[in-house]
Amino acid sequence: MKGLVYNGPREVRVIDVPDPKIEKETDALVRVTTTNICGSDLHMYEGRTSVEKGKILGHENLGRVIAVGKAVDRVKVGDWVCLPFNIACGFCKNCERGLTSACLTTNPGGAGAAYGYAEMGPYSGGQAELLRVPYADFNCLVLPPDAEEKQNDYVMLADIWPTGWHATELAGLKSGESVVIYGSGPVGLFAAYSSIIKGASKVMVVDRHKDRLKLAEDIGAIPIDDSREDPIDAVMKYTKGEGADRGCECVGWQCHDPAGHEVPNDTMNKLVKSVRPTGSLGVVGVFVPKDPKPADELMQHGEIAFDFGLFFHKGLRMGSGQCPVKAYNRLLCSLIAEGIAQPSFLVSHVLPLDKAPDAYKHFDSRDDGWTKVVLRPAA
Ligand SMILES: NC(=O)c1ccc[n+]([C@@H]2O[C@H](COP(=O)([O-])OP(=O)(O)OC[C@H]3O[C@@H](n4cnc5c(N)ncnc54)[C@H](O)[C@@H]3O)[C@@H](O)[C@H]2O)c1
Ligand SMILES: [Zn+2]
Ligand SMILES: [Zn+2]
Repeated sequence: MKGLVYNGPREVRVIDVPDPKIEKETDALVRVTTTNICGSDLHMYEGRTSVEKGKILGHENLGRVIAVGKAVDRVKVGDWVCLPFNIACGFCKNCERGLTSACLTTNPGGAGAAYGYAEMGPYSGGQAELLRVPYADFNCLVLPPDAEEKQNDYVMLADIWPTGWHATELAGLKSGESVVIYGSGPVGLFAAYSSIIKGASKVMVVDRHKDRLKLAEDIGAIPIDDSREDPIDAVMKYTKGEGADRGCECVGWQCHDPAGHEVPNDTMNKLVKSVRPTGSLGVVGVFVPKDPKPADELMQHGEIAFDFGLFFHKGLRMGSGQCPVKAYNRLLCSLIAEGIAQPSFLVSHVLPLDKAPDAYKHFDSRDDGWTKVVLRPAA
């Protein structure tokens, strides 16, 4: 089959790779009809992780089941399924509590596994024609009858919408509260979309890409362009000097100033300043324990100069980490099926797999209009 593999910094290729097989009786094989490029893929693409050459990337996958192992009895051949990016067992101590992002079975020696990702186990990704899905009965979200025509909506359930939702959950956002979101990429836009669905009174989104801020505005958020105004001043202006009730970090350690210089503590410290005393933060942008090409000395070991004094002084709280997609995907799926939500609003490009290397380039450069790329490997 064809698959997209990492071949070194800023180089991915679509090549012939061996077809995956049913390896355990609990596996399923899925023909991938829709798969996204994610901001998380860019950390690998830019050579900022330990990912090995030849790894098939892709962790936001949707498709049709073409084979199941003997021990799979819920999921059937022919089902349309969306796969959480987390690969989880369903029976370990963490999975039992719903924390599938920290599964103790699927990535021995670590906590949490994913398709096609550095340090997340030996699993191939779905930017390919076929995908092996371990523990299929647990991991597959079987989709409603309109799955095929609404693939661009349902595929957002694999990662990016649940992750945006998770940011608001970690931040403890409640109806009627205000929230500031740093980052208007797909994750930040979905944190904004989730906040609006949850009934936030004011949703402020900080970025400097006009096209992305326009999407935030279109869904009802207040765009804050930090290349034009200080985002902390802007948040204070919109909240009568109090600060936002809640804050979401949706950028990660490669956050930078509007001129492009990486400043790994920029968003975290701005959040501490933007959120009101006793407020709380949800951090889903990725921060890593080691960075092979750090912007500063601290970040080499995953550290940032965090304004802990002010964080403590304001009595803030914080939650962080990968999203346990299964905690939310069934509910968010219902919002799509019932016509209440249409997360495909941010899809900018739908392309065949062989166009993916070029799409990585554009998405990595945050070129105007390249908000979210959907690939169709086996349409
Ligand atoms: N926790 C999880 O489970 C999870 C899941 C998916 C993605 N992520 C992570 O979320 C982050 C965002 O993903 P994405 O797909 O939206 O990526 P993206 O790179 O497309 O978007 C990030 C946005 O942040 C903006 N930005 C950069 N520096 C900024 C700053 N200082 N202030 C304000 N905005 C700034 C950029 O202009 C860009 O629009 C990444 O780190 C990704 O790895 C985490
Ligand atoms: Zn992703
Ligand atoms: Zn588990």
